[in-house]
Amino acid sequence: MKWLIIIWILLVLNAAGGTKWLCSRSTVCTPENRKLQGEKYRVARFESQRDCRLSCGKYGAVWPMPTGPGISLSHSRVHFDPQEMQFSVEAPSEAATQFLHETRRLFVANLLRECARDCTVASSARIVVLATVISGSLVLDWRTHENYKLAINSTLGNGTVVHIQATTVYGARHAFETLSNLVTGSVTRGLLLVSNVLISDRPCYPHRGLLLDTARHFMPLQHVRRTLDGMAASKMNVLHWHVVDAHSFPLEITRVPQMQLYGAYSSAQTYSRKQVVELMKYARLRGIRIIVEIDGPSHTNSGWQWGPDEGLGELSVCLQRSPWESPCASPPCGQLNPMNDNVYAVLKAIFRQVAEMGAPEETVHMGGDEVQLSCWNSSMQIQEKMLSQGYNLSEKSFLHLWAQFHRRNLLAWDEINRSEHPDIPEPKPVILWSSLLTNPDTIERHLPKERFIIQTWVDPHDSLNRKLLELGYRIIVSNANFWYLDHGFGHAKTMYHNWRTVYEADMPDISEAQLVLGGEVCLWTESVDQNTLESRIWPRAGAAAERLWANPVESTVLIERRFYRYRERLLDRGIQAEAVAPRFCVLNEKLCDDPYFVY
Ligand SMILES: *[C@@H]1O[C@H](CO)[C@@H](O)[C@H](O)[C@H]1NC(C)=O
Ligand SMILES: *[C@@H]1O[C@H](CO)[C@@H](O)[C@H](O)[C@H]1NC(C)=O
Ligand SMILES: *[C@@H]1O[C@H](CO)[C@@H](O)[C@H](O)[C@H]1NC(C)=O
Ligand SMILES: *[C@@H]1O[C@H](CO)[C@@H](O)[C@H](O)[C@H]1NC(C)=O
Ligand SMILES: *[C@@H]1O[C@H](CO)[C@@H](O)[C@H](O)[C@H]1NC(C)=O
Repeated sequence: MKWLIIIWILLVLNAAGGTKWLCSRSTVCTPENRKLQGEKYRVARFESQRDCRLSCGKYGAVWPMPTGPGISLSHSRVHFDPQEMQFSVEAPSEAATQFLHETRRLFVANLLRECARDCTVASSARIVVLATVISGSLVLDWRTHENYKLAINSTLGNGTVVHIQATTVYGARHAFETLSNLVTGSVTRGLLLVSNVLISDRPCYPHRGLLLDTARHFMPLQHVRRTLDGMAASKMNVLHWHVVDAHSFPLEITRVPQMQLYGAYSSAQTYSRKQVVELMKYARLRGIRIIVEIDGPSHTNSGWQWGPDEGLGELSVCLQRSPWESPCASPPCGQLNPMNDNVYAVLKAIFRQVAEMGAPEETVHMGGDEVQLSCWNSSMQIQEKMLSQGYNLSEKSFLHLWAQFHRRNLLAWDEINRSEHPDIPEPKPVILWSSLLTNPDTIERHLPKERFIIQTWVDPHDSLNRKLLELGYRIIVSNANFWYLDHGFGHAKTMYHNWRTVYEADMPDISEAQLVLGGEVCLWTESVDQNTLESRIWPRAGAAAERLWANPVESTVLIERRFYRYRERLLDRGIQAEAVAPRFCVLNEKLCDDPYFVY
């Protein structure tokens, strides 16, 4: 009787497992009873579409694609229980060892989310993960090595051994991320892992960022953390936190409490200093730096209104301007007063806190976009002071004043560096947006290239990137429109760009390639709050993540199936990524292919 029941269970399981899937040479996964004409299928049979996807095609389900060389994925699997995996980590410092233990914890938590049903397996395959890093350092900046090697070797006698080797803990964490892409839930219980794998990998660009604006709308911390989770899943490594703007100033500055008092939407919609420090730790465990932007001189209003009341004079000018159009790019109007010394003192206090909250090697983004010279020129007080200090009122003179503003803040930043981090040997560059001031014809007069990195937000066909590179400036590329994830919503004049367009946005292709630090997709939040935040970012930011990791030449038609799987993985991890194609097209690979009509 007992045996009959077991046989019955096996039959049911087999039926539940149902049809097997096949992988074709052109990387299509198809149920074996619905083979497509013209596809050449391999012999291996898989229990599900996801199982097939794990090793169908050169990159299987790994997103972003590894850059190789020598990538190989077997079609065989081991069936295992994630709780039974064994880990051994080796690193030359206590901090790095601790980091790897945390990485392992996050990795197992992600694996548990892959389990289709129950994660337990009665006779789990024995899997040992051995992770070794060479460097004990936790420094994370543009010079950090993020390379890794991942080898999975399964033999009958010895079970499965996963070897992870990396220069730094950050490379090792990417390897664990890749390892999670080699796993999927079994249709019965437990998980399946590709049993023999060789992957070597390193990113093309050291700056793979996402800009998040928390000033137009305040984003509760749990949503910022989930954004970091999505970035970690995509091997993105910079959260450019556009934390304050003219609309609100939610960041607590302990030395200048007025900023938040006057600037936050409400006392509940704020980020305390302690919360930011914790957020930065959360990010770094996921291989992500948080670069805080304190935008100025433009985009300043909320938080800067209290100067006259407290005897510091006007900190920001044009505040009450209405209509706002002429002296401002957008309402509410405001531009820091470059002739008021108190402005620099307040900024220095803010920069000091930014330096104290971040890692010693971390830098700051000083904004610098959309300055309206006419705003400054409309202030009698600024005009008078300029004339008395030997400036005239020409455009050239105002540009000079604007550059002075940034250079003076840089001096403050350097002074802070000297007192906070006496062991950092070289000056840290700061980041500015491209603007009138970064015009290639005159930029060298205003901003030394060793100290200022320029984040450009121009069309990929614009000559600005090439010209700045030729002059020797380092740049971060935010392709205007293509990489503006908020476009196509809210503002009538902007266009939505689907994931294929995001993916195909070219990086500057020139010999000064090492001056291109990388790029950032941007989420400005005029028309986004926490309710739509995740679907606006994901999965499209992931398309840029692969552009920045691998700078691939493949067309999106070849990679879409891997991208669809990536999106499902985000969903499994609790990130509300938007749909990019009808479910039918995801399930029925190739049946929706049409060169004239692609989702
Ligand atoms: C896997 O292990 C076998 C036996 O120890 C060895 O011959 C083979 O080279 C290993 N393969 C890889 C990819 O390390
Ligand atoms: C098992 O591992 C040992 C030591 O690494 C190796 O010498 C042996 O060849 C392996 N056996 C098999 C069957 O791969
Ligand atoms: C500033 O205003 C003065 C008049 O007050 C004008 O002559 C000058 O051209 C203006 N400068 C700029 C850069 O617009
Ligand atoms: C105004 O100042 C600039 C330098 O900032 C100078 O090149 C220009 O000649 C001056 N214009 C006049 C009319 O004095
Ligand atoms: C940062 O501090 C170090 C140590 O005091 C110093 O050598 C370095 O020049 C400083 N950087 C700047 C930009 O001042």
